[in-house]
Amino acid sequence: MDAGLIDTRNNNYVPVLSDLATAVTSKTKAIVVSTPNNPTGTVYDRDVLAGIAELAIDRDLWIILDERYPAFAHAPHTHDHIVSVNLRARARTLIVNSFSKSLALTGWGIGYLVGPEPVIKQLARYKPIQPPILILLHNMRCFFT
Ligand SMILES: Cc1ncc(COP(=O)(O)O)c(C=O)c1O
Repeated sequence: MDAGLIDTRNNNYVPVLSDLATAVTSKTKAIVVSTPNNPTGTVYDRDVLAGIAELAIDRDLWIILDERYPAFAHAPHTHDHIVSVNLRARARTLIVNSFSKSLALTGWGIGYLVGPEPVIKQLARYKPIQPPILILLHNMRCFFT
């Protein structure tokens, strides 16, 4: 296993939380979570998301949530936001998303980043990240409630 990567093939492409915890080192800054996942199609359930949130809180990590395919969670699966599973995860979660898949706008490069306001303000200072490429949602409540 490479540092920072975990093998999920024997668990239906769902991370085993103990494997995830073992993969975290003193250099780890963030956990990237992609659910519903491309290319496996796996949807992480609330228990898995809760475990990832707890791990991130315990180890002081960011959660970078790539959720390009929320509409691709088919019954009996549901797509849940990690921040609705654990409200304490809000302060350390960045949601990176685009309209490429959900609105079939591949190639337009239109997307958004949602996260704590101080971080969004800092990231918005970088040149490539500008409206309309990035729609800044300063108030996470408008997105999650
Ligand atoms: C999980 C995931 N994230 C990001 C991307 C990149 O998407 P975009 O076209 O919005 O840059 C893809 C594209 O297939 C994807 O599957």
